[in-house]
Amino acid sequence: MRRAVCPGSFDPVTNGHVDVIGRAAGLYDELVVAVLVNPGKAGFFPVEERMELLREAVADLPNVTVDSFQGLLVEYCRSHDIPVIVKGLRAVSDFEYELQMAQMNRELAGIETLFVPTAPQVGHLSSSLVKQIATFGGDVSRLVPEVVHDRLVEHARRDAQ
Ligand code: PNS
Repeated sequence: MRRAVCPGSFDPVTNGHVDVIGRAAGLYDELVVAVLVNPGKAGFFPVEERMELLREAVADLPNVTVDSFQGLLVEYCRSHDIPVIVKGLRAVSDFEYELQMAQMNRELAGIETLFVPTAPQVGHLSSSLVKQIATFGGDVSRLVPEVVHDRLVEHARRDAQ
């Protein structure tokens, strides 16, 4: 059974994440999408809501599950018997930091990292830009799954009241 993990903050999941998750799911028997729980950082959406949005966004991928983790990613990998981390690369600017983490995770626990170049149509997407645009009333409908779009609109409406 070939297993991999796709980790991240996913605050919220974008079409860029969905692209990488979908392609990684095609390469492994099981893919776990793992949301980082960062006790020092509240985030825009609570972790439970991010997981719920992710589950809806990947509902058509039967070999993908959604989980959360706290602490070191390699410890999560070890305890779940996952030998590979999958990361999306949007641009060269992502590469430097991602390379450092990949090398460190391999040194720490022998976990390999597979880089998936994002599709060019979604290479400019980031959760932070999506949140910024949605907060100021911009249209993010083409940037995120429908369920995320609806939730962002709800959020902006609530904040405006
Ligand atoms: O979506 P993000 O915020 O770019 O994801 C970053 C993430 C969660 C993959 C990274 O911060 C991470 O792995 N955090 C867990 C802590 C850890 O293992 N740190 C050592 C990395 S070498």
